[in-house]
Amino acid sequence: MSEDPAKFNAARAALDFIDDGMIVGLGTGSTSASFVRQLGERVRGGLRVKGVPTSEATRNLAEQVGVPLLEISQVTSIDVDVDGADEIDPQFRLIKGGGGALLREKIVAAASTRMVVIADSSKWVETLGAFALPVEVTRFGFALTQARIHEALRATGCAGDEVVLRVSGKANEPVITDGGNYILDADAKRIPNADELGEALKQIAGVVEHGLFLGLAQTVILGTPSSAEVKSR
Ligand code: 5RP
Repeated sequence: MSEDPAKFNAARAALDFIDDGMIVGLGTGSTSASFVRQLGERVRGGLRVKGVPTSEATRNLAEQVGVPLLEISQVTSIDVDVDGADEIDPQFRLIKGGGGALLREKIVAAASTRMVVIADSSKWVETLGAFALPVEVTRFGFALTQARIHEALRATGCAGDEVVLRVSGKANEPVITDGGNYILDADAKRIPNADELGEALKQIAGVVEHGLFLGLAQTVILGTPSSAEVKSR
């Protein structure tokens, strides 16, 4: 498979955060997939780690490349979580969920001592919001939830307020997450108050989780075609 070199370099630099014996959160998306493949190579070379996957797609990949896995129910904490992002701001706040795995990704990130975010450098932004914010919602009453999310965007000063149901395929069927829910993509355009918006979304009945990851990432690795820059706080 041909690898995006910027994603590959970010993923490779994340291997420096992995020590023998660690429990490692395995993110979802193409950059995380590069990390899982490279981790698999290290495991075949003798590294002993156990992975906790954040999606069924990542579970399948990890099994293919030989990374031993633990179920989330088997762990009380995770040493390091390595995951991608759709946007990252200078406070290391993230938008995640482009791949629809935000619920499991957030549970794993929150259980981890360190979250290492890996991304190509285009994901670094001054202000979050150009990438539509994914919100996982129950199927029951989703149109009502959609209207409340629209109001939350307006109430917290976002520049955009359109909220659309994520669909896929020729038949435009709603995307169903690993948790059996829908995803609503909230096109905020610009999120001036990420904390406020995160709080407002959590208050809405029907919202299972939102893709704002606030205060979770300690390290961001930005890859370019020739190198990777590691930023920590
Ligand atoms: C999945 C995610 C991904 O980490 C995010 O979409 C980035 O994906 P990629 O590495 O393919 O750019 O949040 O839910």
